[in-house]
Order: sequence, then structure tokens, then C-alpha cells
Amino acid sequence: MKPGETPAFMIAVSMRRLFLLSLFILAIQLSSSASGNKEELFIGVSIYRSDDAFTEEERQWIEKESLGQIPVKVRAAENKQSLQNDHIAQFIEEGAAAIIVNPVDRTASGAIIEKCRQADIPLVFINREPLADDMAIWDKVYYVGARAEAAGRFEARIFINYWFNHPEADKNGDGKLQFVIIKGEPGHQDTELRSEYLMKTLAEAGIVIDRLDEDTALWERERAEDLMSAFLASHGDSIEAVFANNDQMALGAIDALQNAGYFSNGRYMPVIGCDAIPDGLEALDDGTLLGTVLNDAEGQGKAAYRIAYELASGRIPDEAAIGYPLTDERYVWIPYTMMIQGNHLL
Ligand code: GAL
Ligand code: CA
Repeated sequence: MKPGETPAFMIAVSMRRLFLLSLFILAIQLSSSASGNKEELFIGVSIYRSDDAFTEEERQWIEKESLGQIPVKVRAAENKQSLQNDHIAQFIEEGAAAIIVNPVDRTASGAIIEKCRQADIPLVFINREPLADDMAIWDKVYYVGARAEAAGRFEARIFINYWFNHPEADKNGDGKLQFVIIKGEPGHQDTELRSEYLMKTLAEAGIVIDRLDEDTALWERERAEDLMSAFLASHGDSIEAVFANNDQMALGAIDALQNAGYFSNGRYMPVIGCDAIPDGLEALDDGTLLGTVLNDAEGQGKAAYRIAYELASGRIPDEAAIGYPLTDERYVWIPYTMMIQGNHLL
């Protein structure tokens, strides 16, 4: 003991040392757990199924956008809402920083939002729009999609342009358009609104429409081929145009038409689709698909990832970070583009 060092003084000094030491250990623990968290940081992505050409493009763009940033963990629900609900529960359990969902059943989004709200994990929906009441449950929920009405109007405009420039398109010369429509999944906003605005726009342009038939092919090429074969069996050559809610189904219709002898020996049928997937663009080039509407998978995938990234980083996403404007605070609408052979119609 040095002069002036009482036992009480010594105890105070060692307690102070002990306190500093424990602060030091705590700091080390905190910094190592922070870097541990960083390694595990991820954004969960659940896609409604893995065999849909368009949503697969979106998935690829989400993955590309994530490179060098917060990584994504992607799971596909194979069209089963129960499987998707399991994905969400797992992502929450694994501590996702944000979740991107392409819902199987968009009307089931409320339950997903509620779960993520309780766990405080921000959510971004893509391609299948949740109902407005569900979007209102929580403010850390965003939607990225495209205005389905616009796609319907664009499909119509491509056809209107063709109809008024090709008098022979009215095959039976009755002054009316006899057509069939091949629809996507019932209840999907892109099925209902694309079909509704397609017909509205044709009528507004002064075309008298006579819908011979319509049915769903659930976005699938093979189902559409069967459906088109059935339409041909019942209506034969009285069909003057085929409208499909997406390219996969337009291509299926083209398969059936080719089997029935169309697109050779001067037999033609105008077929219009939507999405501009690579196979659709090829069909535009070879002249079997009259037109399509570019559904911008790149824009949608990038915007969804950027929003999720901002939310995962604790920021409120803004236009500068997303690269696209926000509407009604939590919606991003990526524009469609009309496409015909050789060029874009503006
Ligand atoms: C639509 C697209 C369809 C299909 C569907 C799935 O936007 O046009 O081809 O991918 O989404 O939800
Ligand atoms: Ca006619």
C-alpha cells in the first residue's frame, strides 16, 4: 500500500477496473454479434410457382439486383397458398430483414401482412395486388406491379390499328369483329382488368364486337392450345381474332392454329398477347404473333428489391432509391409498352 492508499480506496480502484473490463467485454460481444448478424442478413422471397415464364423473369431480376447487396433467399410455392404461408413463417423464424411476396392467392395477403406486422418485418408484394383493405393494415407494406387496365388498352390498340388497315380482317364481311378471348386465372387483376379494358377500348374505337367464346387457360401454354383447339372445333373459320391475357397462352393458341393449318398457304389469324417474354418476341419476329405488351419484369424486379433493401436498412423508400415514382405512398406502377413486329408502337 502506498501512502494515502486506504483499503477503501483500493476497493474503489479495483471495482472501477472491473467495471471498465466488463464494458470492454460487452463492446467486443456487441461488435462480434453485429458482424454475425450482417453475415446472416437476408431478404426472403416467395414466388407463387417456379414454372411461370413471366414471374420467373421477375425472380431473376430480383436476384440480379441483390448481387453485392443484401442477399436473397428464394422459395417457390408451387401454386399452394399453404406452402407459401410456411415460407413466410420460416423467413420470420430465420430473422429476414424484409420479405418480397408474389402471392399465390392475392386475397390471402391479409394474413401474411398481419404475421409480418407482428414480427415487424417489412413486406413488398409483387405482380399480384393485395386488396386495398389488406394493404391498409400496416404502413411497412408496399406493392410493385403494372396497371392491368393499360395492358388491356394496349392489346386493343394494336388490334384497332390492324383492323382499320386490313379490310379483309372482317372475314365474313358483316362489319363486326368475331373473336375469342383466352383468359388467365380467374380473380387475378390482370385477367379481369386486361379483358375488360380490351373490350371497352375496341368498342370505343367503333368496332362492333361479337365475342364468340371465352375461357381460362390459367396462364399456361398447353391449356391454351387445348382451349383454342376446342374453340376452332366449335366456331371454325368464323373466328376473326384471338386475344390472350398473356404470351404463354397466345403461343398455345398459335400452336393450335398451326395444327389447324393457319400461318401457311395464306391462312392468317391475328393473335395478341401480353408480357413480351422471349418466346413471344420470337413469335412477333416470325409473324405468328401480331402484337404483345411489354410487362417490364426487369423494372418490377428491381423496384421490388430496392424497396425491400431500403426497408431492411431502416429507411423509408423514396423515388430516388427506387428509381420509379411512388403513388399513394406505397405503390409503384411500372409502365407497359406496346410491341409489334420490328418496332415499338408508342
Ligand atoms: C401476369 C403475367 C402472366 C402471369 C401472371 C402471374 O402479370 O402477365 O403471364 O405471369 O402475371 O401472376
Ligand atoms: Ca366479322
